[in-house]
Amino acid sequence: MKTNGYDYYNDLANWSFDDINYTEEEKTNWNYEDEIKKSVNENTRALDLGTAAGEKLLKNYPDCAEILGTDFSEQMIETAKKNLLISGRNNISFKVMNNLKMDTQDNYFDLVTARHTIIDPVQIYKTLKEDGKLIVRGVDKLDCWSLKRLFNRGQGYHDVKPISLIDYENIIDAGFKEVELIPLHTIEYYKTKEDLYALLIKTPILDEFSEEAFEEYERKPIENDLFEKYVSENTSEKGIKLIRRYYGITAKK
Ligand SMILES: C[S@@+](CC[C@H](N)C(=O)[O-])C[C@H]1O[C@@H](n2cnc3c(N)ncnc32)[C@H](O)[C@@H]1O
Repeated sequence: MKTNGYDYYNDLANWSFDDINYTEEEKTNWNYEDEIKKSVNENTRALDLGTAAGEKLLKNYPDCAEILGTDFSEQMIETAKKNLLISGRNNISFKVMNNLKMDTQDNYFDLVTARHTIIDPVQIYKTLKEDGKLIVRGVDKLDCWSLKRLFNRGQGYHDVKPISLIDYENIIDAGFKEVELIPLHTIEYYKTKEDLYALLIKTPILDEFSEEAFEEYERKPIENDLFEKYVSENTSEKGIKLIRRYYGITAKK
C-alpha cells in the first residue's frame, strides 16, 4: 500500500496511543516536558509545531500569555480544537500550517517546540524573538534498531546521516547559539504482543519512512514469522522489550 506523510497523519487523527499498554524506563535524564515547563512563564508566547491533535500541548504546557499549536493535517487540527474545548483552557489556539511554509509573524514567539515532526530551523529562527528558545525532540536512526535489523527495513534505516545530526547542523547553520544535542535512551516494555503490534501498525517504525524522503513510501504488511521471532527473543517478566533512541535539541536565537 502506497502512502505519503500527509495522508498517513490524516488517517491517524482520531486515534490515541493511550490504547497501547506499555511501561517505559528512561535511561537518560533529559526530559522534553520538563524543558518546556522550565522555559515558560506567564508572559511567554509559544508555538508548538506538528502538534497533531494537541494532546501533548494541552498536557505539557503550563498556562501562559499565548500558545499556538499548528499542524499541516486539517483533521488533526479539527480534533485539536475539540480537545481544546473539552480542556476548558484559555490563551490557546490551533491552526493548519505546514512547518516548511510557516506563516507566523517574525520576531514574535519566545518559545518554539517541535516533538517528533519535521522542522525548518531557518523559518523557526525568523519567528522567534531575540533570545527566544527552541526545544526539539526527535526519533533517531537507531530507534528500535534490533527490530529494524531483523526486518531489514524501517524509519530512517537507510539514512546516510541520522536525522538528529541533520537537525543539529541545520539549527547551528540557521544562526542559533548555545545549541545542544542530547541523545535519549528509553526502554519500553509492551504488555502483550497485541500491544506491540498495534504500535507497529500505527507508527512508521517499520516503514521506509524518512524525513528526507517524505513524499511517497510503501507500507508493507508486518511479516508474522519475523514479528513472532522478535517477540520470543525479547520477552521478559516486564513485557516485550523495545529499545527507543530519541534525541533532544535546545537552542537560543
Ligand atoms: C509523530 S506526530 C507527533 C505529534 C506530536 N508533536 C507529539 O509529539 O505527539 C507528527 C505530527 O507532525 C505533523 N507533520 C508532519 N509533517 C508536517 C509538516 N510538514 N508540517 C506540519 N505538520 C507536519 C503530522 O501531521 C503529525 O501530526
